Amino acid sequence: ANNVSDSKNLRVKLVLLGDSGVGKSCIVLRFVRGQFDPTSKVTVGASFLSQTIALQDSTTVKFEIWDTAGQERYAALAPLYYRGAAVAVVVYDIMSPESFNKAQYWVKELQKHGSPDIVMALVGNKADLQEKREVPAQDGMDYAEKNGMFFIETSAKTADNINELFEEIAKRLP
Ligand code: GTP
Ligand code: MG
Repeated sequence: ANNVSDSKNLRVKLVLLGDSGVGKSCIVLRFVRGQFDPTSKVTVGASFLSQTIALQDSTTVKFEIWDTAGQERYAALAPLYYRGAAVAVVVYDIMSPESFNKAQYWVKELQKHGSPDIVMALVGNKADLQEKREVPAQDGMDYAEKNGMFFIETSAKTADNINELFEEIAKRLP
């Protein structure tokens, strides 16, 4: 039934983690504002944005998004942002095996120090640059499956799979 009393409004703390330059801020900008910035600046510390989506059953989900800085010098700040997060989105660049390794580092860190019931997504971004791909989609898929994560490849540039990423996360919330 679709009556009003069935509707729920959820608020979800979400953190994005991953190497500098993989496109975390661009993913958030695309999701929140529908824009892409080819001259995106490196994030300093972290930035905060929120966006609400409506699901088919009239539930709304307000994502409170912490977009962390990927540069190594900020690594020690990460726990401030992933602590208490219900969702972690770990991003790598499909052109960069090094960023895929870094993603695996963040997954381990979240398994050790994140909330026990955290929902984790593994995202291979820059999927528009297929011809320069160095991380096979299958590798991302296999790693995600082994670690109980949801996997998707996105492009913040073309918007491919950006809304789908957040919709899939919303479906997996406890
Ligand atoms: P830090 O803030 O340092 O952690 O980096 P970040 O992960 O936030 O990277 P950011 O979003 O700033 O993007 C880095 C660069 O990648 C920018 O030049 C973007 O324009 C580019 N970029 C991001 N997403 C995509 C994408 O999906 N496709 C392409 N082709 N370029 C992208
Ligand atoms: Mg950034």
